[in-house]
Amino acid sequence: MVDKKQYIIRLAEDRDIRQVAEIDQEAFSEEQLFRSYGSYHREIHNPLARYIVACTEEEHEPNVNKQTISEIPWYKRLFTYDHHNEQTRNEQYILGFAGLWIMPDEGHITALGVRSNHRRSGIGERLLISLIDLATQLNIKTISLEVRASNEAAQPLYRKYGFQAIGRRPRYYSQTGEDALLMSTNTITSAPFQARFQQLKEAHQRRWKECSVTV
Ligand SMILES: CC(C)(COP(=O)(O)OP(=O)(O)OC[C@H]1O[C@@H](n2cnc3c(N)ncnc32)[C@H](O)[C@@H]1OP(=O)(O)O)[C@@H](O)C(=O)NCCC(=O)NCCS
Repeated sequence: MVDKKQYIIRLAEDRDIRQVAEIDQEAFSEEQLFRSYGSYHREIHNPLARYIVACTEEEHEPNVNKQTISEIPWYKRLFTYDHHNEQTRNEQYILGFAGLWIMPDEGHITALGVRSNHRRSGIGERLLISLIDLATQLNIKTISLEVRASNEAAQPLYRKYGFQAIGRRPRYYSQTGEDALLMSTNTITSAPFQARFQQLKEAHQRRWKECSVTV
């Protein structure tokens, strides 16, 4: 099983799409970001976006597909097993993912989701730190996002990192009719923002210690 104390943050790759879609669906249910393999693929390769994942360093054997295999009649298994192996080989277990759109001067967080059984372990916060680091490297000035008005887990996280509510989008979530809060940072390259950000980053590192970052 997964040792949640050891994980890395890296750019998302095609081999992550199945698990990213799983987390997307779990975290955002009917409002999930993308609906098809093709749209995740396009987004991961979009030069004006960055998608990152938090994942275990070691590869794991996906249990979902194992069950499926045993249910497939032996004569069909002869033809499907290689295909199955092809899809699931070399998988690292993805704990969470996040995305950033790069616009002139502005970054927009498109997604931030962590598997429900791995929440409250600092992973969502570490993904957000990496997005802010990426945005800083890209000379982005401010970062914005939409969040459900009722989202009591995400809003404190964003506020901790200097996001403030700057507007409201009525009935933004079409499935539920819920409003979104539009949140934004001040200039992320400013000295006060960076000073506070570095403090938070170091505090996270001291508290959780377990993560190595390659983006
Ligand atoms: C929001 C989300 C990404 C947070 O991820 P996480 O890994 O559980 O969060 P962390 O453990 O890193 O927590 C970091 C901070 O977030 C806030 N937070 C996280 N979960 C919270 C909760 N259930 N209630 C209140 N605050 C919470 C806290 O400020 C916390 O800091 P603290 O540990 O010092 O209290 C996760 O709850 C999730 O995937 N939710 C579903 C998808 C979603 O709503 N995404 C945001 C869309 S805009």
